[in-house]
Formats: sequence, C-alpha cells, structure tokens
Amino acid sequence: MTDILLSQHTAARPSAASTVAVDPDPQVAPALADRARALAAQGAILLHNDGALPLPDGSQVALFGRTQKDWIAVGYGSGGDVNAPYVTTLLDSLREGGAVQVDEELAARYEAHSLQHPADPGQEWGQWPRSFPEPEIADAEIAAAARRSGTAVVVIGRAAGEDRDNVLEPGAYYLSAQEESLLARVSTAFDRTVALVDTGNVIDLAWVADHALDAVVLAWSGGMEGGRAVADVLTGAVEPGGRLTDTIARRYEDYPSAGHFGDPEVTEYVEDVFVGYRYFETFAPEKVLFPFGHGLGYTTFDLDAGAVEQIGGTVALSVDVTNTGARSGSEVVQVYAQGPDGTLPRPARALVAFARTPALEPGASCRLDLSFPLADLASYDDSGASGHRSAWVLEPGDHRLHLGTDVRRAAPVGAVHVPRLQVVRQLEEVAAVRPEHAFDRMTLRRDDDGRARVAWEQVPTSQQDLRRRILDRLPAALERIADPSASFTAVLEGSATLEEFVARLSDEELESLAYGDLVMDSPLGAPGNAGVLGGVTEALRARGVPPVTTTDGPSGLRLAASAALLPCGTALASSWDPAAVRELAELHGREMVEKGSDMILAPGMNIHRDPLCGRNFEYFAEDPLLTGAMATAIVTGVQSQGVSACPKHFAANNQETRRTVNDSRVSERALREIYLRGFEIMVREARPQNLMTSYNRINGVWGHYHYDLVTTVLRGEWEYDGNVVTDWWMHSAPDPLFPALRDSAYRVRAQVDVLMPGAEVHFGTTRDDAIRDSLARPDGLTVGELQRTAGNVLRYLARSRGVEPR
Ligand code: BGC
Repeated sequence: MTDILLSQHTAARPSAASTVAVDPDPQVAPALADRARALAAQGAILLHNDGALPLPDGSQVALFGRTQKDWIAVGYGSGGDVNAPYVTTLLDSLREGGAVQVDEELAARYEAHSLQHPADPGQEWGQWPRSFPEPEIADAEIAAAARRSGTAVVVIGRAAGEDRDNVLEPGAYYLSAQEESLLARVSTAFDRTVALVDTGNVIDLAWVADHALDAVVLAWSGGMEGGRAVADVLTGAVEPGGRLTDTIARRYEDYPSAGHFGDPEVTEYVEDVFVGYRYFETFAPEKVLFPFGHGLGYTTFDLDAGAVEQIGGTVALSVDVTNTGARSGSEVVQVYAQGPDGTLPRPARALVAFARTPALEPGASCRLDLSFPLADLASYDDSGASGHRSAWVLEPGDHRLHLGTDVRRAAPVGAVHVPRLQVVRQLEEVAAVRPEHAFDRMTLRRDDDGRARVAWEQVPTSQQDLRRRILDRLPAALERIADPSASFTAVLEGSATLEEFVARLSDEELESLAYGDLVMDSPLGAPGNAGVLGGVTEALRARGVPPVTTTDGPSGLRLAASAALLPCGTALASSWDPAAVRELAELHGREMVEKGSDMILAPGMNIHRDPLCGRNFEYFAEDPLLTGAMATAIVTGVQSQGVSACPKHFAANNQETRRTVNDSRVSERALREIYLRGFEIMVREARPQNLMTSYNRINGVWGHYHYDLVTTVLRGEWEYDGNVVTDWWMHSAPDPLFPALRDSAYRVRAQVDVLMPGAEVHFGTTRDDAIRDSLARPDGLTVGELQRTAGNVLRYLARSRGVEPR
C-alpha cells in the first residue's frame, strides 16, 4: 500500500532540479534574508567552550570536513525542497566576512574533492544520503595545516528527511570511521580544535568526550543564510544564541523511546508522559550528556529571581538578569515545575515558562516576567486514579518551581501550595487505547529512600461508545433553497450569511468543496504549488468561490519560483525567542503574498519523541510548551499578512518509517499532555485558519478519519472553526462503526474537510463515489454533515479574503 501511495506522491512532486530554471530572476527580500541569518545564528548552540571561540580576529583557521563546502542547509522532502536563490557555505562565508583567514591550501584540497565527488542527494524520493563520504586526509597534511594555523574547525554534516528516518549506523546517527579518525588526528595535532555539527536532527555526540575538543557547536540546518550565520558565530560577530530543545543523551539506548521506534506496523508509546527531559530528570539524570535548555553564549549572567506569588489563577514570578561578562549577549531563563507526589505519577520537571532577554551590554540588567496560568500545573487523569477520570486535575501539595538556564541548572525559587485537589476541567474520554491493544506504560514508584524508579502499569483503555457520541451530535441539515444565482460574493460583502449561502448549494457543489483540485502543481495556482482547494470546479467559481493555493512548507515556499530557504524548525525553536520568530514569519507571509501562496503547509509541530525521526528538523522540540509557543509565533506572523498557515501533522506523527500505516498507540494522558498540548496552545492563541491531519493512525484510527481528535477535541474542546485538510492523499477504509460510510464519507463525518490534493483515495474508488453513495443510504452521511464541512471550507475561504463571515 505504501509503495503505491509513495509512487503517486513522488511522481506528482515538482522536483527542485526540474523547476529551478523556471525563475529567470531568483531573488528574495533582503529583510527576509537578514532575519533568517540572524535567527540561524540565534538558533546555533554552543555546547562547550574552553575559550577557543570566538576565533581571535585576524587569526588563521584550518577547516576540515567537506561540509565546510557542501553545506547542509536543510533536510529532505517537502520541508526542504525550496528553490533557494543561493545557499551560503561556511567556507565562503568566512572568506566573505574576512574577520579570520582561512587556510587556503587546505580549503583548495576540499574544494577539489567536492568538484570531483559532488555531494549529490539524487532524485530518488526517500533514498537520500544521510552524509557524504569524506576525502582521505593524510597525517602529513594535518601536520602541515597545524603548522600554518593554531585552530582547526572540523565540520560534520548530516541530513535526514521525510520518508527518511535516521538509522543507527556510521555516517548516519553515528560518526563514520573517517570522521572519527579525522577528529582524533586533528585534535591531537592542533593547539585548539572546534567541532561543528551541521545537522537537522540530533545525532550521537558521545564522541565529544573522546577527543580533546576546545569547543563544540551544534548548528541546526540554517537555510540559505546558515553558512553566514555560523561564520558570524565562530568569529564572534554575533553570539551563538541557541539553547537545546531536546535532551542529548549519552547513548541512543538511553532514550526512553529506544526499542519502540521504527516498527513497520505499531508503535507503542511505552514511555507515556516521560518524554525527553521528563524521563531523564525523573529517572536517569546520569544518562544526560547535554541537558534540555542548555547552550552557552560569549558572556555570563547573574539571575536574581523574585518571590513566587499566586494571584488568582496566575502564578507570578519575575527575574532580574544581569550581564556580568565582558561582551554583549542575551540569556534564556526557564522555569520548571515539580509537582507533589499524588495519585498521578508526574515527571520531576515540566517547563512552565521561559523568556529571552534582549541583548544586554556588559553590566546591564533587565527584568523578565515569567508568569503562567496556575492551571498549567495540572495533570490529566486518564485512569480515574485521582477520582476524576477524564479531567485535568491540580493535585494537593506544594508544586515547586525551579528557575535557571537549563533544566539541570534550574534551582528552587519557591512553590505554589494547592490546599486540596482541584478539578481544573472535566472533559470526556477521547482517542484512548483500544482494549485489544493494551500495553504497559511507564509509571513511577519511589524506593524507601525516595528515589524515583521506573515501574510499569497497564495503560487505561477505552470505555466510551463512540458510535453513540457521533449519532447524538449529528448536526441538523440547513433547509435547502434552490437558488442558482446565489453567490459567495454576497458572503464576502456581508449581505448574506455563510449558512444562507451553504443552504443554496447542491450536493454536488458541497461535495466539490470537500476535495482539492486533483493534483499537486494545479493549473489553478502558482506553478509548483502543492495543490489548490475551494473554487476547484467551474460551477463553484461561477458562484464566486475562489480557488486558493497551498504551498509547502516549514523551511520556505516550495514553488517553481525561487523563494527564501529559512532556518529549519529546530533552529528557530532553539532561539527560544518567539518574538523574533514571529518577525521572520511576518516577512515570510509577505513573500507568500508576492509569490502567490495563500496557505503555507507549516509549521510542522510534532514532538521530537525519538532522535531518529527523519522529520525532526521540521519540528521544534521534545517539549509541548516550547512547541506551542513557536507554532503560535509562526501562525500569527504569517496570518498577520492576510495569508494563512496550516499547522501539521495532527497528531502523533513521530516516525517516517511506514508513516502512512503505522499505528501510534499512546495513552490519552500522553496524548493530551504531550502530543496534543502544543496544538492546543497554538489553536487557542493563534487561531490558525487551517490544520492538517497526519498520515499515521492514532490508536487504530487514521488521522484523516479521526472523529475524536478533530471533532471532539479540536473543534469541540478547543473551539476551532477553521478548515481541516488531510495530509496528501489518504488510505481507503470503511468506517468500522457505520457500514454505510467509507473513505471520504468517513472523513467528512470526522470533519476532516478537504482531501488534498484531491485525487482518488487509495485504492480504487473515484473521488465522488464515497460521499454520494453514502448520502443515498439510510444510516449514511447526512446532508447536515456535508453542509457543515462545506461551511468550514467556505469560512476559511472568506477569511482568506480578509472577511469574517456572518
Ligand atoms: C507531507 C506534508 C506535505 C505534503 C505536501 C506530505 O507528504 O507529509 O507535510 O505538506 O506532503 O507536499
């Protein structure tokens, strides 16, 4: 099944190579390029520094590793395939900047190698190389270079991507033998050695401890300005501003998801809510190489936290930050909660607030507000252990707060006392594990000495009657009115309501709104688009319904025209600076307007559950609060320009291996606290106009058929009233609860409004059959449901024209 899905997908994709020549005048707005450069530097993480960085002005530096020239600007697939007008490299950017001299003899050696053995990712979808072989550099060459320069920079490059998970092999998650040998020999020969990793995804960094390294920089794929950004950081033109958005463990096997990643059929999320630092800080602090939130700059800071106060429903906290070093710089302050032991097991740390200072001159101070809602200290009870099943509960006791510059260094600053258990919000069970799929999930027990120990308990399984829930909530149909002249223009002008217009549409017109225009690169949109929806038929256009153009993706516009290739999602998130990310997104929104994109298929906001996930570079973090804040920044920035975002992939799309069939089996608690939480924050705060479901199944149900996720949670609990689209194509399936529904009828019942790009589902049925067949059957899809979905699409279309329909 996957093969067919993929081959259609690949065949339909305009490749960068085939489209690059289309734009005769490739250029991007200078302001966008400048912001991208600044953010790539702000997202670059200085993991370790014994004083080798910044490189002294005017010094000479020897660059090793082919990535200096074959710079990896982004990962593979729809999230990286942008026709960038240029890509800067580290080598050329250091030359261009001129603050340090590059050892040109060594550089020439690498340039010649790259010319003879080009770093060509190839054209075959999902088969891209994760790294490129290094040239053999002889000991004598290293020794000669060490005589010419005091400092060496060894550059390691990695990429993964869509349909391309990373693997536990040399040259992939691990260093290749050539890279190991290069690091060993260079660090022995040189006075000072800096290791620089240019990657989109976390890779093994255990080798950092094995070599005499004076500094280590983790530079996430920074887009077309990434080379310049890293040159800025190395030379000290700007500080490395990044802080880790993931824990770096000593070994891959130390991650709590290891052993439960990459299965072709089923992924059991056994670690439950103990994802990333939530696991390590609770059970295994000794297994951490670099903690979540860690990152150094070129100056030092003093933090002076105020008292923790509870003011109504808000926990108020502020901190004074003073630059105590000799250079200008900025600091990221993070607050973590540690709840009391209660009826629900809880991680020892959970991020509840963070803020970044502006650039502070030496001696300068500022005050950061780190307040957050009291309700954010609640846990979700999916078992009934607290006495309140399916509710967010605040357990009694002291909720201690820790403040600092990473999760490990965060120190106690006070506590919020909760006198008695409070039900923050009573909800209803959704998307729980099916009884026949039960597994054991991680929980916490304490030894006699109070030490937390991993224990296991059976995951709570579903008790609800979904069929009954759906039937009880079927929408009433709008009374049909035949009116061939009714026009959407009246809705846009405010003279008709949305419902009045929907009531005048025929079944066929309603149905057309539930499909995109068949193919990617639709003739109705800008060349190279990802698909068009809305006014996709002549009949709809005759009624004034506009076609709108969608384009990928998280690192820039994927069109035939050239467009800015931006820092990847992880790079942006590592800035911990939503305000700066929002500014970038505003400029990006302007580029969308110029280049003909109405809707960007971004941000990607799945959780970094496991470092091997190929699309982690598109996503932000292992933490949902940071994820939600970054997605909010991007959605509000883009949408401030009159175009829209389409956050994705809803939900639990955490591996690429067999992504269109894999079943993510995960407790309702972990869903709500980790995998849905970022989406919830973003939906409530940014009001996106669109949302994309995921390819995978969630507890047995494909994202594009998931009534509980899309209707009960997204639209019901979070009050989302926009448009929901499938990820590109979907699997054919009967609705197990309603024999009269399958494929798009099953999808529309869930309120997944538009099948994108609109061609047939897999396998076999034509696009029209499923909805029409089902409408005609007793117990089938109702007209009210089809009208509701058409209304969701039309509401978005009005918003895409700047109108909030009545
Ligand atoms: C990806 C989406 C992307 C879409 C359109 C899918 O394969 O999963 O993220 O937006 O293709 O290119």
